[in-house]
Amino acid sequence: MDASNAPSVDESRRQTGNLNRRSFLCCAATWSVATGTAALRCFAVESKPMNPRLFTFVGANSGPWTVTRFKTVVGDPIPEPGRLDIVSGALPGLPAGAQWMLKGVTSNVRYVEKDEKAELESKQAALGRPEATHGALIPIRKNAKWWTLTQSERRAIFEEASHHTAVGMKYLPAIARRLHHCRDLEGAEPFDFLTLFDYAAKDATAFEDLVAALRTTEEWKYVDREIDIRMTRQG
Ligand code: HEM
Repeated sequence: MDASNAPSVDESRRQTGNLNRRSFLCCAATWSVATGTAALRCFAVESKPMNPRLFTFVGANSGPWTVTRFKTVVGDPIPEPGRLDIVSGALPGLPAGAQWMLKGVTSNVRYVEKDEKAELESKQAALGRPEATHGALIPIRKNAKWWTLTQSERRAIFEEASHHTAVGMKYLPAIARRLHHCRDLEGAEPFDFLTLFDYAAKDATAFEDLVAALRTTEEWKYVDREIDIRMTRQG
């Protein structure tokens, strides 16, 4: 798409309303008894909305989140945007003024066991609390070696060796989180996961401790691309 003709983020959001509903053109042959003629009539049929688990993250000059810190932790960098917008669903193309967009879907859990899942659900807070004016988007990719492991081998590294869930649990409900998976989307995505967090200003130090703790784990030896984007928004 020609960047000068690209729609703004707001226009893209409006178009998203259309894009997230798929329209089909159905045609049917009809016979008129009155005139004795046949006609082909076509009409649009709207299907159900597209995947509600899909989110698009737009690095741009507009959007509710102001980027306050931006660091390439490992791997290839991406351009640093001034702001971040988070859109539910897909966008028709890169909005005007945007540097990049990343897509991911929320999904079922892979590693947590029944009691861990119950504990998470009883403790975790939803994103978007008024006091949660601080946020982080941390896109992550794991290396080919990780993806050749079996599910049980990955669980052993993720939890038995690295205690990811147990460590993270200590920060609930102060830190709210949403994990987006990218590997199963249609196109080749630059990251495997888009991890999103929000928290109050008073919990910013705790979030630093959490991220630092996770980065020392066995699991993180498999991370080969990671960008740490910190941001704030109006309460
Ligand atoms: C706020 C505390 C946190 C908790 C409670 C938490 C919990 C979890 C849980 C339970 C899963 C596995 C879900 C499943 O079974 O599929 C998970 C996955 C993941 N988390 Fe966290 N997490 C936290 C913080 C973080 C942070 C700060 C990061 C990034 C720096 C992060 C990055 C990831 C990634 C990349 C995955 C996907 C791992 C994979 O499937 O290979 N998490 N987290």
